[in-house]
Amino acid sequence: MSTIIISDQEFSQFQGLIHQLAGIHLSPAKKALVSGRLEKRLKQYRLGSYAEYFKLLTGGHNTDELQVAVDLLTTNETYFFREPKHFDFLRTKILAGHKPGRSFRVWSAACSSGEEPYSIAMVLADHLGEGPWEVMATDISTRVLEKARAGHYSLERTSGISKEHLTRYCLKGVGAQEGTLLVERKLRGRVNFIHANLSKPLPALGEFDVIFLRNVMIYFDMATKRQVVQRMLPLLKSGGHFMVGHSESLNGVVDTLQAVSPAIYRKP
Ligand SMILES: C[S@@+](CC[C@H](N)C(=O)[O-])C[C@H]1O[C@@H](n2cnc3c(N)ncnc32)[C@H](O)[C@@H]1O
Repeated sequence: MSTIIISDQEFSQFQGLIHQLAGIHLSPAKKALVSGRLEKRLKQYRLGSYAEYFKLLTGGHNTDELQVAVDLLTTNETYFFREPKHFDFLRTKILAGHKPGRSFRVWSAACSSGEEPYSIAMVLADHLGEGPWEVMATDISTRVLEKARAGHYSLERTSGISKEHLTRYCLKGVGAQEGTLLVERKLRGRVNFIHANLSKPLPALGEFDVIFLRNVMIYFDMATKRQVVQRMLPLLKSGGHFMVGHSESLNGVVDTLQAVSPAIYRKP
């Protein structure tokens, strides 16, 4: 089948849909990306146009397909120990001052395929050992959550993990699993993966000492950023820390947090 062209009108329908579903703002520059990612679904259903696929999605009869479209239209790039300064800060400033024996909870709020929450869990395990700690990890994409729960990665994607962490918390695949790495069961057991859409009311997640909201606000417009952060803040304990991506900022988004370091804020 030849390539199906998406018209401006069709693109704006999908633009509206993904904004309504996930709060994601797609600029017109994303037109090729949208058509490229959705084209296989048109082929799967043998549809001749994006308008027909839009109709299928919004007809109210196929909620599973809506999730497939959300999975396809979200960008899930991530890696272990991405933006290492956050992990240094967690280690040297936050955990260094944490009283042993008290519970410690971290939320990775757009966790993608799990590299971020497992990186956090490795640092917590180093410092808090068998103590009462956990990582909550949420994402809107069910496809990446499935991958995250498995904790099974290609070795090529694990260069951010130190030798010590590899030895302590990871199993290297042998035989048929050669070239892969499995996060060991005990560490996986400390990370709880839950489906959650940050642009809608949140499930009951409890309170956190640290929240990571990294590299997802870039997809939101200002109004959505404000709503998302306002919804999340009550879940951060007083004195707790809020991490955003280094290309992101809470300037103009919220004024109740104190900036303590680049891309790191604290709730008074
Ligand atoms: C680029 S990844 C960032 C992953 C990780 N935080 C990092 O910094 O490496 C962005 C993630 O945000 C998720 N996402 C996008 N919109 C979302 C929403 N409304 N609610 C929850 N997650 C969302 C995507 O599914 C994707 O996995």
